[in-house]
Amino acid sequence: MADLALDTFVKRIGDRSASVAVIGLGYVGLPIVLAFHDAGLTVIGFDIDSAKIEALAAGRSYISHIGSDRIAVLAASSRYAGTTDPARLAQADAIIICVPTPLGPHRDPDLQYVADTARMLAGVLRKGQVVSLESTTYPGTCDEVMIPLLEQSGLKAGADFDVVYSPEREDPANPSFNTRSIPKVIGAQTPQGLQRARALYGVIVDEIVETGDLKTAEAVKITENVFRAVNIALVNELKLIYARMGIDVWDVIDAAKTKPFGFMPFYPGPGLGGHCIPVDPFYLTWRARAFGMHTRFIELSGEINRAMPDHVIAELGLALSRHRAKPYAGSRVLVCGAAYKKNVDDLRESPALELIEKLEVLGVNVDYWDPLIPEIKPTRAHPGLSGRRSVEVTEDYLKSLDAVLLATDHDATDYDLIAANAALIVDTRNAFAGRDVAGVLVKA
Ligand SMILES: NC(=O)c1ccc[n+]([C@@H]2O[C@H](COP(=O)([O-])OP(=O)(O)OC[C@H]3O[C@@H](n4cnc5c(N)ncnc54)[C@H](O)[C@@H]3O)[C@@H](O)[C@H]2O)c1
Repeated sequence: MADLALDTFVKRIGDRSASVAVIGLGYVGLPIVLAFHDAGLTVIGFDIDSAKIEALAAGRSYISHIGSDRIAVLAASSRYAGTTDPARLAQADAIIICVPTPLGPHRDPDLQYVADTARMLAGVLRKGQVVSLESTTYPGTCDEVMIPLLEQSGLKAGADFDVVYSPEREDPANPSFNTRSIPKVIGAQTPQGLQRARALYGVIVDEIVETGDLKTAEAVKITENVFRAVNIALVNELKLIYARMGIDVWDVIDAAKTKPFGFMPFYPGPGLGGHCIPVDPFYLTWRARAFGMHTRFIELSGEINRAMPDHVIAELGLALSRHRAKPYAGSRVLVCGAAYKKNVDDLRESPALELIEKLEVLGVNVDYWDPLIPEIKPTRAHPGLSGRRSVEVTEDYLKSLDAVLLATDHDATDYDLIAANAALIVDTRNAFAGRDVAGVLVKA
């Protein structure tokens, strides 16, 4: 590719005449669309899910923490077009891929969405374009999976088009950070690709962090999420150990985090959830096997974190027996919060679903409450819960229960109402700390 093309690309980004296509308009892709649109570029939003394209065209958000007011601005803009037609992608100067990267049934990386996207792009790719993968994946994906598929276009990566990897660090519903304020890591196949990536992402973020190549950038994201998974496992294990000693792990963490260096607080919970932390580390585990290596920290932390729902169920059983003189079977329990973390409407891998399902197997009558999840959508792991609806929580209803199991600490939770009316609260998030609880409070 001639330098002139690079200059032209940088100039088009600079004067905002460039257009960016975003493939996959979910939790990651939609904020990216908004960020480039807010920065003044023309944006093409592409998804195979036509319902998403239609919702955006109607000015309607389908993600609870992204307001419809922002989507209405997008829908009315002449600089935004939503489409399910791959041919439109040829118009874009840069194409950003934000499709899912889940685990398959055998906990192996399922790259079908990335591969499908790359195959589709091979049919429309043109010289001078930049393709940036933002989906989380194992080191080597761009070089060994994506580039060969893109080159089925007949064009050569690094010569005719550039390939970039830039991991997404979106933390949905975190009010302290947004796309602009989170430093963006970039890696590219060639120095020229890196220059393009710098120009492209420079319009939506304040700080760019460059890595030497694609696989280093891929490893950055995996490392961040392995770090979280391992540290969450550590505090989950400490929770069990300290509980036996009569020590409250949350009190320990609150005091420990006052150390101004060398300690970072992580918090225990009912188990890992979300699309990232329970999934991404196992991408590395799978990849490491190809190098004859074992990821022992990852395996151990997975084992500890996956045991948490069973621990919570055991604590609930003990508490029902001790404080309500009841077995599991026939008791009535409200699971409070179904999303995998506070203030999001995301059910993926949520431990609350496992809790509900396992408690029902034990004969417990379970309801759930979650204002962000009025109805449980079909999930691969818990098909039996599909269609269940969030209940209304009133004083009388709370009084009719044997226990409230706090799984997710949404801000919208009426803690005072629960504290005043529940006979037994099993709290997995330390959400009732410091509150006046009329019944029995058990931390689990
Ligand atoms: N959600 C997060 O907080 C988060 C944070 C960092 C990184 N990530 C990573 O970002 C990636 C996307 O995650 P997400 O949470 O946005 O997923 P998501 O399920 O919310 O969105 C993915 C979108 O891609 C679409 N899609 C699937 N296949 C497609 C195809 N072939 N062509 C076009 N569109 C297609 C889906 O319809 C969906 O709208 C994943 O790799 C994930 O690990 C997610």
